[in-house]
Amino acid sequence: MDTIAILDFGSQTSQLIARRVREAHVYCELFPYDAPAEQILALRPKGFILSGGPASIYQTGAPSVPDYVLESGLPILGICYGMQALTHALEGRVAASTRPEYGPAEIEVLTEDPLLPAGKQPVWMSHGDRIEIPPPGFHVSARSENSPIAAISDNLHKRYGLQFHPEVSHTPGGGEILRTFAVEICDAQLEWTPESIVENTVKRVKVQIGDQRVIAGVSGGVDSSVAAALVQRAVGDQLTCIFVNPGLLRHGEPEAVVQALGENLGARLIAIDATETFLDALSGVTDPEDKRRIIGEKFIRVFEAQARKAGQARFLVQGTIYPDVVESSAPDRRVAARIKTHHNVGGLPPDLDFELVEPLRYLFKDEVRAVGLALGLPESLVWRQPFPGPGLAVRCLGEITLERLKRLRVADKIVIDELQTAGLLRDKTAQAFAVLLPVQSVGVMGDQRTYAETVAVRAVTTDDFMTADWARLPLPVLARISNRIVNEVPGVNRVVYDITSKPPATIEWE
Ligand code: XMP
Repeated sequence: MDTIAILDFGSQTSQLIARRVREAHVYCELFPYDAPAEQILALRPKGFILSGGPASIYQTGAPSVPDYVLESGLPILGICYGMQALTHALEGRVAASTRPEYGPAEIEVLTEDPLLPAGKQPVWMSHGDRIEIPPPGFHVSARSENSPIAAISDNLHKRYGLQFHPEVSHTPGGGEILRTFAVEICDAQLEWTPESIVENTVKRVKVQIGDQRVIAGVSGGVDSSVAAALVQRAVGDQLTCIFVNPGLLRHGEPEAVVQALGENLGARLIAIDATETFLDALSGVTDPEDKRRIIGEKFIRVFEAQARKAGQARFLVQGTIYPDVVESSAPDRRVAARIKTHHNVGGLPPDLDFELVEPLRYLFKDEVRAVGLALGLPESLVWRQPFPGPGLAVRCLGEITLERLKRLRVADKIVIDELQTAGLLRDKTAQAFAVLLPVQSVGVMGDQRTYAETVAVRAVTTDDFMTADWARLPLPVLARISNRIVNEVPGVNRVVYDITSKPPATIEWE
């Protein structure tokens, strides 16, 4: 498949470059800038994009453009630091800017250019250094008020440099610039579609698994479901899906998993209701860390027992997605990756002796969703909001009992139903749910004095779940949620709305 290779010089937005190129239906992969040449050339790329990065080209040890990229004769697009590194490598001059430029700017295209549309357009700048003299063969193709050299072009050799960031949403025409580079300049075919992803992945998985047996743990989450569905498409009944229901899922979810994977896709599915096992183990436990540990351990044990029953399998499906893969290969992003791994309680057993099958390894989350839909999984599952591995255990504060879980489930369903009706799920809230607090307070209902528990409603907006803000839900919607919860959920007489951002709070309460 036609591929664009993106060399990552450490910018926070390198992944966005890859997403924009793929949105144009062109396949691309992101590599550390110093990845082995053979690895990249093996893909027979149609062109290179050099990302931005935090370094300054004259610092000692500053990353440079690898020789094989320059020697390939293929089109090159350098973005920000990538442009400076390209300029330096081709003997132009880069200088520390007297006026670093961060934020919005407007560029004016100076000459007819195959990459940049004529006229002016808003862009996002973020650079300290700037180009002083373009390399021989290049001309200045755009300027901005602060950057007399905002873009450079060498049309003969199809080499380009942009001082601004086309990949970010603050550069509204940036997606089109990256599309033009990939499609018009590199002449890459539009081969990256949900159907071609399915076809390619199915081929790859078939080769890997051969006639062996494979198992997949499914949780009801998007990634594990799409991963299982892809492997099922590849090897059919050689796959056994194991669904352990710990009794900590939301209303209707266990049934939805069985229906989506078992009944609709026809996957071999072992569904175990392990509610009793989990609740016994959690009996009397109130400490959040203890809850997580117990759930994690129980999960492994129950899964292991079922996996053994399913027969000897050599492979285990894992729903690793592309951002996890590239994050863990970039040294300066390892911290971010580590923050995430502590969340992986309730994932799959790390110490089982399987070879891994990772059908989503090259996909971004939006691509996983598109593939899920192409495979016939329902919208409700494909667009499900993230749900923590330990499930309702982190939303049922205090002791976890069947009765309190039921209370929480009913309240949570009211929150979801009302937001759904008001059109506030998906785009308007990244995550929304109810939390049951072990806090009792006095109320009155009719002539009766009540002493009952509290439900906190949490709804947040966020892009990356690392930071989040509380959603400004319309008051009438909050009023309806509150009214319904106190009327329809026995044992609850008070509803509060969480108006804390993250940080300092977290999204979950625990
Ligand atoms: P916090 O509460 O740390 O959550 O702001 C950030 C995101 O991670 C989810 N989360 C988890 N996901 N296992 C998971 O798979 C976990 O143990 C876990 N704890 C929190 C949370 O729902 C939010 O999306």
